[in-house]
Amino acid sequence: MTHTAITVSNLSKEFQIDQNKTASVLKNISLQAHYNEFTSILGISGSGKSTLLKCISSLLAPSSGSVHINGLNPYKLRNSQLAKLRRKDIAFIFQSYNLLPALPVLENIAIPLRLSHRPVDTKKIHNLLSQMKFQADAHTFVKHLSGGEQQKVAIARAILSDSSIIFADEPTGALDSHSRQIIFDLLKGLAKAGKCVLMVTHDLELASQTDRALVLKDGQIVHDISSPSPDTLYQALGVSISDK
Ligand SMILES: Nc1ncnc2c1ncn2[C@@H]1O[C@H](COP(=O)(O)OP(=O)(O)O)[C@@H](O)[C@H]1O
Ligand SMILES: [Mg+2]
Repeated sequence: MTHTAITVSNLSKEFQIDQNKTASVLKNISLQAHYNEFTSILGISGSGKSTLLKCISSLLAPSSGSVHINGLNPYKLRNSQLAKLRRKDIAFIFQSYNLLPALPVLENIAIPLRLSHRPVDTKKIHNLLSQMKFQADAHTFVKHLSGGEQQKVAIARAILSDSSIIFADEPTGALDSHSRQIIFDLLKGLAKAGKCVLMVTHDLELASQTDRALVLKDGQIVHDISSPSPDTLYQALGVSISDK
């Protein structure tokens, strides 16, 4: 029996383009995500994947509809409650999101731990970094790292924060195929250990190794596939692309 981590109801998001033009990016989306479940979100570029992940993860208020994370609507919380929810329950792996460029790798990874007054186990951090084949020195300032290395720092931070819900937007985008699989396996391990992992990707090979794939098209979820095979995903996306 899996427990619900996130409930999204009738979520829509519009962006005001100019005075008399709005773009309707997400249309009436409803979904649930669960603990112990690794969900991938797929769709062609511009289909609204990042916008959806931001709306679900407390970073971007929807135009209408609701989001509940562990029963709480982040957009109805006071700032201090929202900060607490993010600190306690949520980890973000958005490329270079919230990394502090002028701090060393180690300090960046330790941020969530320091914010919640938990001990920082440097040995554990070093072990994880080496498991991730992180090449740079852990005392390097983040601003001196490549995109791929920054991505690994964001991932290490999310893993060590021990949050129960992990949001990742193309977490393996800047990595070579070997690193990609290592990072993916780490995320998969987190879901196996009971966490709720939501990952945007356009890597069908990786998506086919997740528990569930949501396919976005024109702002709607057009497929919700359990234990997706590469073929099923290819078809689901192929159809979406040729329909465009
Ligand atoms: N802040 C914004 N203002 C206006 N349009 C936006 C904004 N953010 C995203 N969009 C538009 O919404 C659509 C979906 O974007 P996005 O969610 O980034 O897609 P994806 O991640 O699937 O590539 C795109 O057409 C994009 O231009
Ligand atoms: Mg995106």
